[in-house]
Amino acid sequence: MTAYSENLRKNEVKLGKVASASPIAIYYQQQEERWDSFVKKNLPDAELLSWGKEHRVFRFGSRVIKVQSSNLQKEADSHHRIKYEFSLLKKAEGRLNKLNPEYRIIDGGWHILEMDWINSNSLEYYVNNGRCNEISLFSLLRSLFYISLSGIEYKQFRARHIFPQVNGSFIFIDYGGSKLTNPIFALFHNFTPFYWGNGKLEWSRLPGLVKMILSSRNNKETLYEDDVISDNLSLANSLFHWKRNSNRNKCECPENLNIELKDKIAANHLHLAENYLGEAINIDQIICEDIFQLQIAGYLLHGGRNWGFLWNSIRKIVSFTGKKVIDLGSCIGLVGVFSRFEGSSEVISFETLPELVKASEDFSKAFRINNNKFQHIDWDKLEYKKQNLPIGDIIFALSKRFDNVSPKRQLEIITNYKEIVWRTSNPNKAKQDLIKEGYRDVKIIIHLSKERPVIYAKK
Ligand SMILES: Nc1ncnc2c1ncn2[C@@H]1O[C@H](COP(=O)(O)OP(=O)(O)O)[C@@H](O)[C@H]1O
Ligand SMILES: [Mg+2]
Repeated sequence: MTAYSENLRKNEVKLGKVASASPIAIYYQQQEERWDSFVKKNLPDAELLSWGKEHRVFRFGSRVIKVQSSNLQKEADSHHRIKYEFSLLKKAEGRLNKLNPEYRIIDGGWHILEMDWINSNSLEYYVNNGRCNEISLFSLLRSLFYISLSGIEYKQFRARHIFPQVNGSFIFIDYGGSKLTNPIFALFHNFTPFYWGNGKLEWSRLPGLVKMILSSRNNKETLYEDDVISDNLSLANSLFHWKRNSNRNKCECPENLNIELKDKIAANHLHLAENYLGEAINIDQIICEDIFQLQIAGYLLHGGRNWGFLWNSIRKIVSFTGKKVIDLGSCIGLVGVFSRFEGSSEVISFETLPELVKASEDFSKAFRINNNKFQHIDWDKLEYKKQNLPIGDIIFALSKRFDNVSPKRQLEIITNYKEIVWRTSNPNKAKQDLIKEGYRDVKIIIHLSKERPVIYAKK
């Protein structure tokens, strides 16, 4: 029995029949249990690099292992299957890449693509650290030219997928969605600055990346990629993600859960939660910076950072069984629901707007968790000690809006708890402060973004 399934069983006892009757909760828990046993058996202690419900990437020693479950083979179009990605990696192997790719199917349907771990920094690191003057644009374009000559229409031209090498060339990884075609088409596709998408002409990735490298060389703030963004752009980026929700595919909307999982309750309450969230964002746009991308079954909520990735790290490190969780700035209440799956006994979620309190309540009801608590909080009252938080075992402070409270008071508030999960813009200072406050175990558990990693601390 995995630790997860053990938790599940304990959990069923705690949550009683109500949560265990929730199709969406069962779907999620079974999915994670499947992955947990797969990883435990085949990739023990592997480091997760990318999280999808049926597609995950791990570092396992000196190799990178991409895994797709058998379910995905039915869902994904052929260009997103790793068997196809393997054929592209083989094609790129030689002049540019030396990754020794291998492909196989194991354990009755898990598709595995593995390759060497590249032991150097990606272009993203050079951009983040103002070292783009070390990058030759000419060589980058030459590498793209060689990739094109091998007939690969490369769709993942992003800084995090490109690895500068000492000999001046570049290794390209992640061929998901890319296509094998003839070299002329590939050249045309890879080098044209526009492409046809969503019924209009859109900028392709090449000009964006070139601009980013040039701006970074000149130390300008006009950078734009997921992990390298100033505050204004970070808000723009979050708003962009939020707005994508209104153009979602029908099968990604809450209503679809009624069809896919026959879960009318989840469909209704997620719909309501999203409506309340929308109302809250109309009042204060910055809220959309606190939305995580969430995917359960077909349901997809677009957001800045991947919840599955974050929660995967948290649940591996934090033991929730029987603990009381305080969630400060809960947004729609993900911590409340997911910590209950892990066996927490009580959750109190705090939010500043009634709309967000309602959104969190509905989110919880979608999973038939009806005994979490929700309360209103005011940043100013918290700052001036006119309002205090209740006692508890673990505090979560993932919201960017917690910065409305002064750093000194933030520290005072969170150090009332033995365990802390804190997403902060000043991680090094936060770590030092927590150590001074007597926390023994203090570590960055996940780099969700360069600016705001998540810290875990335990007394
Ligand atoms: N061969 C590799 N060497 C070093 N890092 C890698 C390698 N393959 C993947 N990564 C890291 O893992 C991340 C996820 O891999 P990627 O191929 O982009 O997966 P996905 O198909 O989920 O997009 C990459 O952004 C990169 O940081
Ligand atoms: Mg990728």
